[in-house]
Amino acid sequence: MKADVLLGLQWGDEGKGKIVDVLTPRYDVIARFQGGPNAGHTLEFDGIKHVLHTIPSGIFHPGKANVIGNGVVIDPAVLKKEIDGLKERGIDVRDNLYVSRKAHLILPTHRLLDAASEASKGKEKIGSTLKGIGPAYMDKTGRNGLRAGDIESPDFRQRYGNLVAKHREMLNQFEYAYDLAPLEKEWLSGIETLKGLKFIDSEYEINQMLDEGRSVLAEGAQGALLDIDFGSYPYVTSSNTITAATSSGLGLAPHRIGEVYGIFKAYCTRVGSGPFPTELSDETGDRLRKAGNEFGSTTGRPRRCGWLDLPALRYAIMLNGVTRLIMMKPDVLSGFESVLVCTHYMSGGRRTDRIPFDLGVPIDPVYETLPGWNLEEDVTAPLPEMLERYIAFLEKALGKPISIVSTGPDRRQTHIRDEALMPV
Ligand code: GDP
Ligand code: IMO
Ligand code: MG
Repeated sequence: MKADVLLGLQWGDEGKGKIVDVLTPRYDVIARFQGGPNAGHTLEFDGIKHVLHTIPSGIFHPGKANVIGNGVVIDPAVLKKEIDGLKERGIDVRDNLYVSRKAHLILPTHRLLDAASEASKGKEKIGSTLKGIGPAYMDKTGRNGLRAGDIESPDFRQRYGNLVAKHREMLNQFEYAYDLAPLEKEWLSGIETLKGLKFIDSEYEINQMLDEGRSVLAEGAQGALLDIDFGSYPYVTSSNTITAATSSGLGLAPHRIGEVYGIFKAYCTRVGSGPFPTELSDETGDRLRKAGNEFGSTTGRPRRCGWLDLPALRYAIMLNGVTRLIMMKPDVLSGFESVLVCTHYMSGGRRTDRIPFDLGVPIDPVYETLPGWNLEEDVTAPLPEMLERYIAFLEKALGKPISIVSTGPDRRQTHIRDEALMPV
């Protein structure tokens, strides 16, 4: 068997959580492979709405294994809150949640360093989620980090203390006041919760599951345009977010990757700083934000909104080797008389399809105008003709089929257009 991958093609928040939940019945294992609690993946069904940060989005389906892979960074304090929240919903994660021993830990001081670094940057700030992601990955690549498996070792507290001492020295270089004690208390309580979970060497287990014919869906976090290498650096996250990260984040050789589901909104959003060529800083942008409820699932920040950007989408499809596309939220555009799509850019008087290396180079998006549509409430109704035209236009422009169209946040508001993906 090969593992399939589902990941975001824009700046995150495409709706990954919803679709992973929809596709979970087809799989035995759902595995996160990168990122951490900067992610906020929303699921809605039976009138409940739930946001997951670290736990894979297959957790609501009994009997499915959910794996937090080695490429993920875990904040035990956030994980504990997630576990407690799920318990209130009647889900005991201890049955189905597995944690890679090699996943790195986010310390409370990583969060403080993230906040101090952002504060010191002023207007140049990344707009990070302040979850400690950057500093935790820095310690991982700097070979100072603590891993989930380390909490089983007798000298764990000593090693934690040593790393915190180092972080305190770093914090001294910022003018940043902090109170570590309450954060540390919460974190240590999270460590106790973590100790009650099933630790695995996930690279062995996942490869073995595939050998035994079990199916795996890898769940991406963030999106291709936030990738540390290919996103608009430095306004990116601190991990690779593309398909390649499935290999390093789960220990899967590249030939073991099967389908790559690339998910995108029918328009664009971005939260945090950085370039956004098709951004709408006007009432149309406000209308999208309101209709799409575009406020961060993790931070509550308003998301910047704009039209769909085809050069950026093509870039993401190329980097990820996308085989099937999934389009989300065309319902948000319902009632728009016309809908714009950026087909290419103009830069220095020349047409280009490429995102320039230099973020300072101005690029002007060039738009094609398509007729809008009105979506009915009834989820069983066929999609309106003008939306079908939009879909056909995008399939042609992107060269990949749009296999799923989502028309609302609920599980049921999902139009599957591909025989191969019909519910099992
Ligand atoms: P993720 O990070 O990719 O999982 O996406 P988020 O959960 O951060 O953001 C997606 C938001 O859109 C959530 O509030 C979802 O409930 C909502 N959503 C998902 N699909 C649809 C859709 O098709 N239409 C509408 N209107 N909302 C959707
Ligand atoms: P999901 O998985 C949207 C953005 C932040 C910031 C930049 C760096 O829900 O799609 P970080 O905290 O990672 O150092 O922040 O990346 N960002 C996201 N934006 N969705 C996410 O995750 C994001 N995770 C990080 O807003 O611009
Ligand atoms: Mg999100």
